[in-house]
Parts: sequence; C-alpha cells; structure tokens
Amino acid sequence: MKKHNGFSGSLGFVLAAAGSAVGVGNIWRFPYLCAKDGGGLFLLVYLVLVLTFGFVLLTTDVAIGRRTKQNALNAFATLNKKWKFLGYLTFLVPTLIMTYYSVIGGWIVKYFAVYLVSDGTQAAEDGFFTSFITAPVAPIVFMLLFLALTAWVVYRGVEKGIEKYSRYIMPGLLLLIIGIAVFSLTLSHTDGNGTTRTGLEGLAIYLKPDLTGMTAKRFLGVMLDAMSQLFFSLSVSMGIMITYGSYVKDEVDLNCANNQIEIFDTAAAFLAGMAIIPAVYVFLGREGMSSGPSLTFISLPKVFAAMGGVGRLVGVLFFLALGFAALTSCVSVMETLVANCMEIFHKSRKEMCAIVGIYSLVTAVLICLGYNALYFELPLPNDTVAQLLDVMDYISNSFLMPFTSLLTSILIGWVVGPKWIIDEVQKNGEPFGRAKLYGVMMRYVVPVVMLLLFLTSTGLGDLL
Ligand code: PHE
Repeated sequence: MKKHNGFSGSLGFVLAAAGSAVGVGNIWRFPYLCAKDGGGLFLLVYLVLVLTFGFVLLTTDVAIGRRTKQNALNAFATLNKKWKFLGYLTFLVPTLIMTYYSVIGGWIVKYFAVYLVSDGTQAAEDGFFTSFITAPVAPIVFMLLFLALTAWVVYRGVEKGIEKYSRYIMPGLLLLIIGIAVFSLTLSHTDGNGTTRTGLEGLAIYLKPDLTGMTAKRFLGVMLDAMSQLFFSLSVSMGIMITYGSYVKDEVDLNCANNQIEIFDTAAAFLAGMAIIPAVYVFLGREGMSSGPSLTFISLPKVFAAMGGVGRLVGVLFFLALGFAALTSCVSVMETLVANCMEIFHKSRKEMCAIVGIYSLVTAVLICLGYNALYFELPLPNDTVAQLLDVMDYISNSFLMPFTSLLTSILIGWVVGPKWIIDEVQKNGEPFGRAKLYGVMMRYVVPVVMLLLFLTSTGLGDLL
C-alpha cells in the first residue's frame, strides 16, 4: 500500500497553510497598498473581502484537495472529465511563480546579511538596491542560498519538513512582527524644519479611512487592488491549497481550520502594516509612504539608518521575519510542483525534488539575468513597464489567477454544484454557518467579480 503522506493534525495544517499564505505579500505588498489606497479605507475593504471572497476561495481549494485526495492536475479531472484542462491551467501558476519567488527570497537574504555584518548604512544609500539586483553574480548566489533552503524543507517531506519547520517559524515570525510593530509605535523624530512626527500619529494615518478625492472610479480601483492582494496573499486559485488540502485528515474541522488560516494571514498583514507605516511616516513623512513597491528594499533601509544604533538590530529582525515568511511560502510553491509531478509520473519525492530543483534553478537564473544580460522594458496592459520578473508575476497573478478562479467558480457553482464542497466541509457534522453564503457567492458573485478583475487587470476592459 502507498504510504500516506499528510499533516499530523489540524494545527499542523493550519500552521503550514498559514506559512504559505503569509509571505512577501503580507509584509511587502500589503503595507504599500494600504499607504497608497487611503489607509483605513483599504483595511476595511480588505477585511470585507477576506470574510466573503477569501473564505469562499480558500474553502473551495482546501475542500477539493481533501475530498479528491489529489493534486490540482488530477483533482479537476476527478471532478469532471471535461474540466481536466483547468487542472493544467491551475498548475501553471506555481510553475511561473517558482521562477521568481526564490529570486526575491535571495534579495531578502542579501539584506539580512548586510544588516548582520555591517551597520546597514550602505543599504540606505541611493542606488544600492538597483546596483545589487543588476549585478551579474551576487543575486544568483543569494538566490541559490534561498532555493537550497527551500528544496531542503520540501525534500524532508510533508510532516518532517513542511509541518515541522512551520511549527517553529510561524510563531517566531508573528512574535518578530509584533515586536517591531510595538517598537514602531514608540518612535518620534524631529526633522530639519522642526516638525516632530510620532509613531502614534502614523498609526492614526494607517487606521483612519482617508476619503479625500474619493470618486466611484477610485473606489473601484481600491477594491481591485484589495481583491488581487487577497488572492496572492491567501495563495488561493493556484493549486497550492488543493495540495495542502489533500494532506488534511478526514476528521479535521475544515471550516474552523480555514477560519484560523484567514485570521493568521490577515493579522500578519495588519501587523506588518503597523510595523512599517508608522516608522516610515516618522522618518520620511507622508511622501515616504507613497513609495510603492520600493518601500521594503529602498525606503525601509533609510528608516533603519535614521533610527541610529538600534536601526541595525531592527533591520536584522525585520529581514529575518521577511525571510521566514518568504521561505514557508516558497516551500508551498515547490511542494505543489513536486507533489503534482510525483502523482503524474509515479516517481519518488527525492527524484522529483531533484527535477523540480533543477527547473527552479535554471529559471531563477534567467530571472536574475533579466536585470542585466536579458534586460528589457516591456509596457504591460496594466500601465506598468516590466522586466522578466514582472512579466512572470503579471501572467501568473493578473492574468491566470482571476481566470482560473472564474473557471473554478463556474465548475463548482454550476457544473458540480456548491453542495459538493459544502458536504465535504460538513463531513463529520461540523457546523458551517456560512454554507448559504458560500453557495450564493460561488454561483453569482465570484464569477462576475472575477470576470471584472480579469478584464481590468489584463487591460482588456479598456477595449470594451
Ligand atoms: N501568499 C504568499 C504571500 O502573501 C505568496 C504566494 C503566492 C505564495 C503564491 C505562494 C504562492 O506572499
């Protein structure tokens, strides 16, 4: 008989899934979106979306995994033969994410190392980030370190690798972010003009909904930002939660576990915002807060430098937390690739780790070269200019994820029927208070909103 792979229990699953969900999206992307999209307003919209869309998409993925006990590639074919293609489409997302996630992981390792061995002032200098990522060798070396760590955890297996490491890393990560958040609130700084700004004022900006200049169109923009953030953040619609769901024991209360995962993920994002936004406000003012994606690697080092001696310690702890978050997420992407391939090719974990490892290595090197030998500037339909990494990110997150969600909601809502999922959640007679909401969302709301998101983020909406 085939040895059954799986999590030891509910807590193991929740921490591993939270490990996948809490990643660079929570600590890097969430805070800058929040700063850009009216602070508390974004928070509020995000919270409503987590409780509705987040809950529906996460429940769907995990229940498909546990009920079919298969990975995405086979699970969709089990649901309905004609929908086999959806398994392939879903599988494509981690295949693309794997190419660049370890490259970002390498950047984090580099910054962690800089704060460990020096006082970090060089990281605060203009041009430091760009000259690092465009260097020919250094980004590859740091990526390799990160990738080796990821491959090691995946190679160790589900219980001895993923679950075991998540059990240590996730509580550690939470403690680190809470510590930095509390510290951030105690900050105060007087700039050259004699203006004093405090961490508590920064907190107020973070929490208060800013409605200045709000129009219906702008509000729609905030909603779409929050929606695509939600997908990425919960690691849904990419087969990852199907794979993790397939490792969950039948007696686990799925609804309860899913709620815990959502709370963990949202709390981590909220706390990361609390750690970052007040600190950036204190040292760089309101302008500093609108720096967008450069917030983590360019603005934060300036904040740490302005803190004086303690900045180095905060830098070490911050990049350690970010590294933890990125590692457990990258592990989930690689595990999904390995698990799907093991199922399809009937090969051992060891062999598949080697093959997926080589694939990850080669593609990640290409992504690193995307900033020097393979550099190009490609305008994307969503009005950004992309390099290789951004192109992969765009195809997987802006194009494929809303598309697979749209198709999944049609499959579950209309072909298979939401009852198939609801029955799995209530398998052992557990209460599922939001069962009705689940059915309505899956049939009517999710397809419409996913179509809208797909059209907007691909720029196709402008053509209509
Ligand atoms: N959810 C992770 C985050 O918030 C990112 C991630 C995306 C992880 C896709 C795995 C797959 O950063």
